[in-house]
Amino acid sequence: MSTKILMVCLGNICRSPLAEGILKSKVPDLDVILDSAGTGAWHAGELPDKRSIEVAKKYNIDLAGQRARQITKDDLSSFDIIYVMDQSNYNNVISMCSSEDERQKIKLILNEISELNLEVPDPYYGGEDGFENVFKMLDLACDNIVLKLKK
Ligand code: 4NP
Repeated sequence: MSTKILMVCLGNICRSPLAEGILKSKVPDLDVILDSAGTGAWHAGELPDKRSIEVAKKYNIDLAGQRARQITKDDLSSFDIIYVMDQSNYNNVISMCSSEDERQKIKLILNEISELNLEVPDPYYGGEDGFENVFKMLDLACDNIVLKLKK
């Protein structure tokens, strides 16, 4: 059966679309279903932020097919793993859970690199550098996710 993975950030236009696109690019041969969502609804229906599209393009990843949406309670039951970008996302998604089984699915994505509870910084109000930085963090985390999925 497919492993269903959901990437979550605040707006679903900067970090989680990148996480979705990066992981998708690394698992063409694995049985994985991927999506992303935001805890907020402000950007629902929008394309990813131009700066996320640009940094992804630099690494040959196409985000243009993605549209933002808000996470729903159904996502908590239907996905197997829900990766969040920061502690605020974590708290918001945990507060939507209705069982321990659902709470166990929620993980900080950078805990795939180290166990220090590191956060993917929100690049929305910063410059291009922030997006490159976010790309590199997510790329490393996704390499480790792929290793786990192949086990
Ligand atoms: P994201 O970044 O959570 O990585 O998509 C943000 C995008 C939009 C806003 C905040 C963060 N906003 O306040 O509109």
